[in-house]
Amino acid sequence: WPMNCTIGPGLEGAIVCDTKIGYVNGSKGWLIYQGYDIFDLCAYSSFEEVSYLLFHGKLPSKDELVSFKQKLNLYRNIPQTIRQLDSFNIEEMSPMASVRLGSELMRQQLSHRIEEQVQLLYGGISADEDSISMEIEPTGGERATYEFESDEEELVDSCYQCIAGLSSIMGAIVRLRAGHLALEPDPNLGFAANLLYMMSGKKPTPLEERVMDICLILHAEHGINASTFATMVVASTLSDIYSSVGAGIAALSGPLHGGANEEVVKTLEEIKSVDNVKPWYKKLKEENGKVMGFGHRVYKAYDPRARILEPMAKLLVNDKPQMQEMYNIAKSIETEVQEDMGQEQKIFPNVDFYSGIVYKSLGIDSEYYTPIFAVSRISGWTAHVVEYLKKNRIFRPRAIYVGDYLNEFIPIEERE
Ligand code: SDX
Repeated sequence: WPMNCTIGPGLEGAIVCDTKIGYVNGSKGWLIYQGYDIFDLCAYSSFEEVSYLLFHGKLPSKDELVSFKQKLNLYRNIPQTIRQLDSFNIEEMSPMASVRLGSELMRQQLSHRIEEQVQLLYGGISADEDSISMEIEPTGGERATYEFESDEEELVDSCYQCIAGLSSIMGAIVRLRAGHLALEPDPNLGFAANLLYMMSGKKPTPLEERVMDICLILHAEHGINASTFATMVVASTLSDIYSSVGAGIAALSGPLHGGANEEVVKTLEEIKSVDNVKPWYKKLKEENGKVMGFGHRVYKAYDPRARILEPMAKLLVNDKPQMQEMYNIAKSIETEVQEDMGQEQKIFPNVDFYSGIVYKSLGIDSEYYTPIFAVSRISGWTAHVVEYLKKNRIFRPRAIYVGDYLNEFIPIEERE
């Protein structure tokens, strides 16, 4: 640093930091997390191992994985947050708005939980209710100040609480919006299985658990995409991690980013039959529309995540005839788009094109596909925050000013 780079609109080509967490090679179609290829991680590891890897730069030993899973299990229990969430009319909110609300409620609970913990540890507290730093009276008599996320260990622990808590919030949102009670997390289930259980109320089959685990691995990290960057920008102002994650959730909600997977399934359902694909595509091109689930700012090759999701979708629809037609429509769209924009414009399927078919085959409604994306990507968001905060530099890009200069000020009485 400083580094020369050619920057286009929307920060295209801009290098905002160096990182070891994730590498996206757009021309070769590679995705690497902390040096490990995504294909190896999907084949041999779990979302818990990958989350640990993103934070610590190495795959966990058996003991490290056990204690990490114990922490996530502990932090999945956020009954006060879920009770508060239930007091809102979340059935009238979009799922992603409910997820954002849940992350804010978790933040409030956490600062109170710290108070409870500190109260247990240190006795009387003269905490200033509004601030999140507390003057505490430790038993030893010396005064200390407990600064929320005051050092990296605290920050990483808060990130673990975000990761674990958001999966419980996700489960509660699905249940509460369906008019059911939210379920307690099952300590005997791993992250992926527990997420499916808390959403559906049913313990998943080993195949369903493995499929969800792979989906969570695939969505966990992708360099400095819009939602990761939004999270980092807010964190770079030294705002707390929950507010930073709230910014990531807001950015991911957009249909050009995480919201595309839901749009893809809606499109496949609207088309209804393979015979309708050609007229549908012709109309979309005439209207200069975007094919949801295709194209990418970085990948000018096939998205490696789609290379894993497509065969998974194909496998999962095998015994679901009603989904077979949806898969066939998707393949037909892929053929149309590849013939039209593949080689010339390097427009290929991205992570969102087949993920919806996979989730639908697990019985999940399309309105929850983007929230599930957030439940996974929170690992990448928070790992990048921990890595970036070491640089201690607020994000403050510039713009080229193309407006007027030195306009004469006209008093309002004289304006037309
Ligand atoms: C994700 O950044 C990440 O890493 C994101 C993500 C992650 O893991 O975090 O990978 C997740 O967001 C995947 C993308 C999900 N969104 C969609 O599938 C929505 C449809 N895709 C397009 O909106 C678009 O491809 C974007 C938004 C994904 C990328 O936009 P860019 O960077 O402008 O794409 P580009 O420069 O390659 O496009 C050049 C041209 C376009 O020109 P414009 O109309 O934008 O001026 O290529 C054409 C279009 O003419 N084009 C498309 C297209 N994508 C590009 N034409 C039709 N359909 C498309 N999908």
